[in-house]
Amino acid sequence: MSTGTVLVVDDERTLARAIKAFLEASGYEATVADDAEAALPLLGSLRPDVVFTDVRLPGMDGIELLRRIREFDPGIPVVVMTAHGSIQGAVEAVKLGAFDYLKKPLDLEELKLLADRARETSALRQELSYYRQQALRDQPFSDVVGQSAAMRAVLEQARQIAALQDTPPVLITGETGTGKGLVARTIHASGPRAERPFIEVNCTALPATLMEAELFGHERGAFTDAKESKLGLFEAAEGGFLFLDEIGDVELALQGKLLKAIEDRVVRRVGGVRDRKIDVRILAATNRDLAHESERERFRRDLYFRLAVIILHLPPLRERGDDVYLLAEFYLRRFSTKYGKPVRRLDPAARDLLRVYPWPGNVRELSHVIERAVLWSKGAELTPEHLSLTMPGGAAPRRSSPDALGPELPVAGEPPSRRAAEPALTLDQMERSALEEALREAGGNQTRAAQRLGISRDTLRYRLKKHGLSG
Ligand SMILES: Nc1ncnc2c1ncn2[C@@H]1O[C@H](COP(=O)(O)OP(=O)(O)OP(=O)(O)O)[C@@H](O)[C@H]1O
Ligand SMILES: [Mg+2]
Repeated sequence: MSTGTVLVVDDERTLARAIKAFLEASGYEATVADDAEAALPLLGSLRPDVVFTDVRLPGMDGIELLRRIREFDPGIPVVVMTAHGSIQGAVEAVKLGAFDYLKKPLDLEELKLLADRARETSALRQELSYYRQQALRDQPFSDVVGQSAAMRAVLEQARQIAALQDTPPVLITGETGTGKGLVARTIHASGPRAERPFIEVNCTALPATLMEAELFGHERGAFTDAKESKLGLFEAAEGGFLFLDEIGDVELALQGKLLKAIEDRVVRRVGGVRDRKIDVRILAATNRDLAHESERERFRRDLYFRLAVIILHLPPLRERGDDVYLLAEFYLRRFSTKYGKPVRRLDPAARDLLRVYPWPGNVRELSHVIERAVLWSKGAELTPEHLSLTMPGGAAPRRSSPDALGPELPVAGEPPSRRAAEPALTLDQMERSALEEALREAGGNQTRAAQRLGISRDTLRYRLKKHGLSG
């Protein structure tokens, strides 16, 4: 049994062959490349545990090769070999992340010891990534933030679905930005098919004919441009998952063929004559009301029923209670680290604002708001001014002090001058004016006013009462 795979890059043939023989005698599998250009494609096919490279090579030098290897996979240990007297290259290499360096003329014993050490590091790294995957499986969905009852319920369903080897298709529904894509990827990553492909197709992007060729593949000569036959995405996802994002946008013309593939688990390439069996789990997502669309014959009913056996519905952020704080803190940590900012928490008024703002763009919007706020922040706390949210109805929290944000920075979709001209409003006043406006626009109908604001009727009633607006 070999103890590891080594790639040796050196144009001095005799030396390279000596290294190879020595390593093989010690139980390694060793491959020699004459130059960097020949070495690069071997990274993917050999998956070496360690690379030894000379610094001076014809064409691309060893330092550049090191850089490329680190781009390919920063975990592969690279040892550079430098001619006696050119220590400069070695220093540079170590700065760039080389595992170590060896001076020429080589001491082969020393080289082998380095190979052993690098291989151990490499094995340890693989083990760690194995444990990380294992952790995700033992504690699935730990990447999805949310403790509200509504989220706990969907995540529990998602966990159960993920654990199965095979299930009917799963339809993930929810408004834009609620985490449908995230949940789909997590179902894949925490289940028994995690090592198999996860292929994502955005169904909005393509017209039916192109989409058909993408999904099902085509045979050579199927149409003018089809010079070669091509594997479709269903086949490419074999053993794993196909995630049909925005499935509501698939043209009717293609929906029948899609249904057949899902139901019979066979695909036929465009221009092909034979059905191919597939073993692929289907996840689909939409932010449309497909039940409604299928009643109006804008979406095939049979396909809808096939997809709707298991529905995971992600509630909008405004219905997740305190989750908005958890998510805001999650993004606060992420972006303060990313931008090296000292900001650590939200002040109470900012927290209140997060809670009343209706978040039409859901978690995605929240992440953008926090990112922007962190960028503008100065001290340890975020204030409502940093969040700079515009409530429905046009009311916006004004900057309390003109220099709170430093120089005028542009606000998404709104010139700063307009904001500055607005009268100062407290959070309470903003809420009140949003309520009044929604009621007015809904002609006094509370159910519709609640819908406009994106809150439940109970929440609306509670807030109306608070402001003395209920009749
Ligand atoms: N509960 C959550 N915890 C952590 N991150 C989340 C959560 N929900 C969503 N996100 C993040 O918010 C962003 C938007 O989520 P995602 O793209 O999955 O939404 P979507 O429902 O697919 O939206 P769309 O319908 O617009 O495609 C992503 O960066 C995602 O990682
Ligand atoms: Mg999405």
